[in-house]
Amino acid sequence: MSTQSSVRIAPADGKLGVLIPGIGAVSTTFIAGVEAVKRGLAQPVGSLTQLGTIRLGKRTDNNTPKINEFLPLAKLEDLVFGGWDIFEDNGFEAAVNAKVLDRPLLDQLEEPLSKIKPMKAVFDSAYVKRINGPNVKADGTLMDKAQGLIADIENFRKDNGCTRLVMIWCGSTEVFHKPGAVHQSLEAFEAGLAKNDPDIAPSQVYAYAAMKCGVPFANGAPNLTSDIPVILDMARDLNVPICGKDFKTGQTFMKTLLAPGFKARMLGMSGWFSTNILGNRDGDVLEDPGSFKSKEETKLSVLEQILQPNLYPMLYKDLYHAVRINYYPPRGDAKEGWDNIDIFGWLGYPMQIKIDFLCRDSILAAPLVLDLVLFMDLAQRAGMRGIQEWLSFYFKGPMTAPGLYPEHDLFIQLMKLKNTLRWMKNEDLITHLGLDYYD
Ligand SMILES: NC(=O)c1ccc[n+]([C@@H]2O[C@H](COP(=O)([O-])OP(=O)(O)OC[C@H]3O[C@@H](n4cnc5c(N)ncnc54)[C@H](O)[C@@H]3O)[C@@H](O)[C@H]2O)c1
Repeated sequence: MSTQSSVRIAPADGKLGVLIPGIGAVSTTFIAGVEAVKRGLAQPVGSLTQLGTIRLGKRTDNNTPKINEFLPLAKLEDLVFGGWDIFEDNGFEAAVNAKVLDRPLLDQLEEPLSKIKPMKAVFDSAYVKRINGPNVKADGTLMDKAQGLIADIENFRKDNGCTRLVMIWCGSTEVFHKPGAVHQSLEAFEAGLAKNDPDIAPSQVYAYAAMKCGVPFANGAPNLTSDIPVILDMARDLNVPICGKDFKTGQTFMKTLLAPGFKARMLGMSGWFSTNILGNRDGDVLEDPGSFKSKEETKLSVLEQILQPNLYPMLYKDLYHAVRINYYPPRGDAKEGWDNIDIFGWLGYPMQIKIDFLCRDSILAAPLVLDLVLFMDLAQRAGMRGIQEWLSFYFKGPMTAPGLYPEHDLFIQLMKLKNTLRWMKNEDLITHLGLDYYD
């Protein structure tokens, strides 16, 4: 299929600043990882932008360049990092506390990590309940705090000589809430900021500040954040890419691998029970029912969309799907996720599948952060704005245009992502039809 995109991609010249609300386990593992790769201490395993290839043309053309050679992505050497947190720990101290990476590796990265001194956060304990810290913007209205974030962003840009910036939320999961009147328009939102409307979550103040500064914004947590009309409008009107939400890493990643396979073979499913134990700060925050509800929503949504019980009622309409998360400190970041899947086959005969994924949460999330940063910067240089659905590949709860159901199948998401990259470079899209090989 031929495409006639007229996309012009501006070159990736100069420094790309990566601004992160939340200097915790995921963000420090990401930053330390980039610094380790830059120094030749480790490999960027799990990163599509660093290791992935893309086929161009026909299978017989044998033309499969690396993605980062096909497109002008920012180089790791050109990334500079900054962020906000409610705790004052610098990037090295936060990485040591997170206990994800081994101390001998971290010791070799102490110099670049220590340079990351979290800026004062916009925080509200009504939205994140089980932690509290001193490094916060305490005075003034939410509008003053938004202005404070905008000043932080512009100072960071200037001090580090950045030509471009990207912001990615790696902060704690905020409590579940729904869009309200204050989220419906820029006017209502700005009035709400000025009068401290309790319906505005801190993460939304960051997203607003990012939009005002023209900085692409990705949301790694399941919070509502940018999934509200005001931010969608700002992203479109100000030509800023946005995407989210909730990194697709451990258990949900497995779900979106397996469920499309069962459906492809027309196998039925009566139950999927998922439970997790984890002992990091994220697990602690998720003990709060409000924060857990945000997570539960994105974790539960995937099966319904993949299995389409409305099209296949006999196979999937009675599916019982439950997700549990328990805080269990001894495990730290090394989460254990169990799944029990009850499926049925020919003539309705039942079978069971058990999965026990002994994973490492932040090790799975860090390469996703890197890819999202590089792709969001690319999207902006390619003139793309608003929701970047082609980045659904990275999320449990992909943002889509209002009224459009999200695509959760990992392989469809990957095809969409790679076809978008081909489209950006005016290459033929790959449909896998392949009939012409047999003419
Ligand atoms: N690791 C994974 O596999 C994974 C997958 C999907 C989503 N997530 C989400 O990513 C986020 C980060 O996870 P983590 O393991 O690094 O958690 P973490 O608790 O180690 O780090 C989060 C940090 O955010 C800070 N924070 C909270 N509210 C803030 C605010 N308003 N402004 C600035 N900083 C704030 C906290 O103080 C903490 O240091 C969580 O929301 C988590 O649910 C993680």
